[in-house]
Amino acid sequence: MVSYDIDDMRVQDFIASLHRHDDDLDDLRKYAIDNDVPIIRDETRDFLNFVLKIEKPRKILELGTAIAYSTLVIYKALDGDLDKIVTVENYEPRIIDAKKNIDKFFDKGKVELIEKDITEYLDNIDEKDTYDFIFLDAAKAQYIVWLPILKKLMRKGSVLLADNIFKDGEVLESRYAIIKRDRTIHKRMREFLHEITSDTELDTTILNIGDGISVSIKK
Ligand SMILES: C[S@@+](CC[C@H](N)C(=O)[O-])C[C@H]1O[C@@H](n2cnc3c(N)ncnc32)[C@H](O)[C@@H]1O
Repeated sequence: MVSYDIDDMRVQDFIASLHRHDDDLDDLRKYAIDNDVPIIRDETRDFLNFVLKIEKPRKILELGTAIAYSTLVIYKALDGDLDKIVTVENYEPRIIDAKKNIDKFFDKGKVELIEKDITEYLDNIDEKDTYDFIFLDAAKAQYIVWLPILKKLMRKGSVLLADNIFKDGEVLESRYAIIKRDRTIHKRMREFLHEITSDTELDTTILNIGDGISVSIKK
């Protein structure tokens, strides 16, 4: 039997060629790329879509809206059959775009855009308000800081999905290979990963998808 060496790029290109398209999402993605807005990668979008279809959450918290691209991925994955997506963003130019997109693509009342810093929002959140699914895609150095409150917002069976946990591969490197300016993020992301994988209240898996994803389920 012949066995072939398969490099990562070939695998990624092959999978990308099988990617299913959606006109609304493709338009938003193009806008994001043209305007330097960071959004989830295609592999991450496919995985998020898949997990949501299995989990069927009703109440979703998204931290890091940008222009509401991933918000729309979530909404479409669930065919709009959800109670609410609460999504938080504090960067004014992106808030303007997010509002336009929310008006255009979502049924009224399905999405609540919180125009605030996430830390400020979480500091004042009602801890009795639980979410079925939390999508964490904002300031990477804050993941470890926000984790304790996010855990309080999870009921048994709730899912926490965090994106960019490899931070473009930086997190895999030794601390000493990282330029000084980025060492705090490196250290804090390592702490976050250590915490979610060792926490006995969570079941966590780390996946090499996109820029790295962690998926945690509250026990
Ligand atoms: C990677 S982008 C989110 C992309 C979006 N989830 C998507 O895939 O379409 C991260 C966003 O989080 C926002 N953000 C980062 N830290 C934040 C904070 N502390 N409070 C509110 N928003 C924040 C940034 O302004 C940025 O728009």
